[in-house]
Amino acid sequence: MTKKIGILTSGGDCAGLNAAIRAVVHAAHQKGWETIGILDGTAGLLCEVPQVRVLHPNDFDGNILRQGGTILGTTNKGNPFAFPMPDGTLKDRSYEITDGFKKLGLDAVVGIGGDGSFAILSKLAAQGNINMVGIPKTIDNDIGKTEASIGFDTAVAVATEALDRLQPTAASHDRVMILEVMGRDAGHIALNAGIAGGADIILIPEIKYDLDKIAAKIARVKKSGRNFALMVVSEAVKTEKGEKFEMTYYGGEKRYGGIGQYLAGKIADATESETRVTVLGHVQRGSPPTCNDRLLASAFGAKAVDLIDQKKYNRMVAWQNRQIVDVAIADAIAAYQEVNLNDTLVQTARALGICLGDK
Ligand code: F6P
Repeated sequence: MTKKIGILTSGGDCAGLNAAIRAVVHAAHQKGWETIGILDGTAGLLCEVPQVRVLHPNDFDGNILRQGGTILGTTNKGNPFAFPMPDGTLKDRSYEITDGFKKLGLDAVVGIGGDGSFAILSKLAAQGNINMVGIPKTIDNDIGKTEASIGFDTAVAVATEALDRLQPTAASHDRVMILEVMGRDAGHIALNAGIAGGADIILIPEIKYDLDKIAAKIARVKKSGRNFALMVVSEAVKTEKGEKFEMTYYGGEKRYGGIGQYLAGKIADATESETRVTVLGHVQRGSPPTCNDRLLASAFGAKAVDLIDQKKYNRMVAWQNRQIVDVAIADAIAAYQEVNLNDTLVQTARALGICLGDK
C-alpha cells in the first residue's frame, strides 16, 4: 500500500543530517511511498499553512549527501508546550503542531533529533496520535541505547584536525595550547578527539580536576624535553568550585562557553607557560560528514523506513554491537549517555599517560 511519510530535523544541526534525509527518501521511494519534508523542525507546522517540501530522490543527485547542515532547516528553541511569545509569556502551542500534522495527512513521521527533541516529539506523537520513528543525531553523542549518533564522528574529526593544526604553533612558540570543544554535559568529543589528536591533558565534565595535577603534568612534559603541551577541555567543565561557564545570547538563551579562557589564566600562572585558547564552536557541526557519519545516516534512514513498513512506532533506530537495531524512544531518552569512568577510552587515556585532571 502506498504511504505518505513526513520527515523533519529538530535540535542543533550536525553533519550527516542531509545524508539521513536522503536515505529516508530513497528507501521510501523504493517502496513507492511519497516523502514530505517538514521545514524548520516543528516550527514549520506552527504556520497556518504547514511549511513543507515534497522530496524526491532526484533532489539528492548532486551535492547534498556531502553537505553539512540540513536542507529542511531546524530549530533548537521554542518548546511548543511552553512556547515563548513576543509579550514574554509562555503559551502551549502543541495543538497547532498536532493539527499541522493532521492537515498533511501523513501515515508516519521520521523525526531526526537528539534527546531534547525526542522528548518533545514523543509528547506530540502521543497527543496527536502520530506514528513516529526517531533517528538519533547529535555531535554530543549523549543519547542512550545507541553507541553512535549522526554527527558525532564528524565533530570528533574536526576537533582532531584542530589539534593537528594547533600542534605546530604550540611547538614553534613553546606554548600550552588549549582547545575548548562542544559536547554539552558529556565529554565524548573531548575524550575522543583528545586521544586521537595526541593531547597531554583532557578535561571532561564527568571527572573533577585539580589544577595542581594539571600543572604537574605540564611540568613533567617540560622535564621530558618537550617544549609544548596540548590540552582539550569540554565546554561544560566547571571551575574548581563548581561554577558553570555560560554565555547568554539573544532571547536569553544560555549556552556553555568560556572555561578554556578561565583555565588558560590559571595554567599560565601555575606553570609560567605562554598559554593560548581556541574555542572550536560550531565549526564542529558544519563540516561535510565523514564517511562513518554518511554510512550511519544511510543505515539509520533505511531502518527508519523499514520500521514504518512494519508499523513499529515510538521506536528509535540505534547502533549496537555492529548492528542497526531499534529501541523504545522513551528508553533512549531515559538512558542519557555521559562518559562512563570505566569506558575503554578513559582507560586508554590513562594507559597513555594522558592527564584527565584528577591524577
Ligand atoms: O547539542 C549540540 C550543541 O552543539 C552542543 O554541543 C552545544 O552546547 C550547543 O548545541 C550549542 O547550541 P547553539 O547552536 O544553540 O549555540
